[in-house]
Amino acid sequence: MTDNMAGVDQSKPSIARVYDYLLGGRDNYDVDRKIGDYFINDLPGSVAIAYANRQALNRVIGSIAADGIRQFVDMGSGLPTVDNVHQVAQRHVPDARVAYIDNDPIVLAHGRALLQTDANTTVVQADLREPDSIRQHPEVRRLIDFEQPVGVVFSAILHHLNDDEDPRELVQWWIDQVPSGSEIYISHFRSGQNEETRVAEQKLQETFGRGRWRTDDEILALFGDDVEVLEPGLSYCARWRPARPDANVDKIGVEERELTIWEQLVSCALARKP
Ligand SMILES: C[S@@+](CC[C@H](N)C(=O)[O-])C[C@H]1O[C@@H](n2cnc3c(N)ncnc32)[C@H](O)[C@@H]1O
Repeated sequence: MTDNMAGVDQSKPSIARVYDYLLGGRDNYDVDRKIGDYFINDLPGSVAIAYANRQALNRVIGSIAADGIRQFVDMGSGLPTVDNVHQVAQRHVPDARVAYIDNDPIVLAHGRALLQTDANTTVVQADLREPDSIRQHPEVRRLIDFEQPVGVVFSAILHHLNDDEDPRELVQWWIDQVPSGSEIYISHFRSGQNEETRVAEQKLQETFGRGRWRTDDEILALFGDDVEVLEPGLSYCARWRPARPDANVDKIGVEERELTIWEQLVSCALARKP
């Protein structure tokens, strides 16, 4: 991994780098791999949470683009991996515009390199909890026209906010900024009723000093009252508008087979502002 990354602290694990490691990326340090290896070795199968989340994100971006939305703000976007939001969106809408927002300096460093050649995409280092600084950022203003429908993406990010940081009010703030026809996506870690979930949640809280997994009702409540949740409603990420199974590869589709406890730990929903 490249050195000379301003602001990158290699002594503490970072959410973005641990997640990158779990997804098979190379932009991480020993301190991140140690936490990642805990999940891989001590909670076997838990990496399925990250994959189910990421695959749902790809399907949802395709759905939002198919609904005619051409611009996206991706909150807590993480490190570039395969099939990033702009790549998926631009497959559907070649001139789709994407603003990636993340507070981890490593995301900015890698994102800049990746996006140098793409004038329709930007990476902004900002804190989700300061929405006005994101809305007013020159790069966001350059790319996102808030008079036109926007896809606002909160993928695997709101469980990093504690209740006293009021994630519901934050989502509502963005709903109020975007016009009718905009779509809001949330994926979120779910509280499960089993020991593995409790241990995994506790490990993340110990490691990052924060985080709150929520029940389905609590996740749905994050959308507030001003948007309509679209089909199929809040569902496990693995089952959110699943891709048609490939008969040559998948013996059973995801709708028929039982999901693992890990796949049941991340839910998502897409909503539209009427
Ligand atoms: C689990 S990753 C999710 C990445 C991507 N959205 C996805 O679903 O694949 C969470 C990301 O949120 C970022 N993050 C955490 N807290 C944040 C905050 N307060 N403001 C902005 N980004 C934040 C982390 O740096 C990390 O990249």
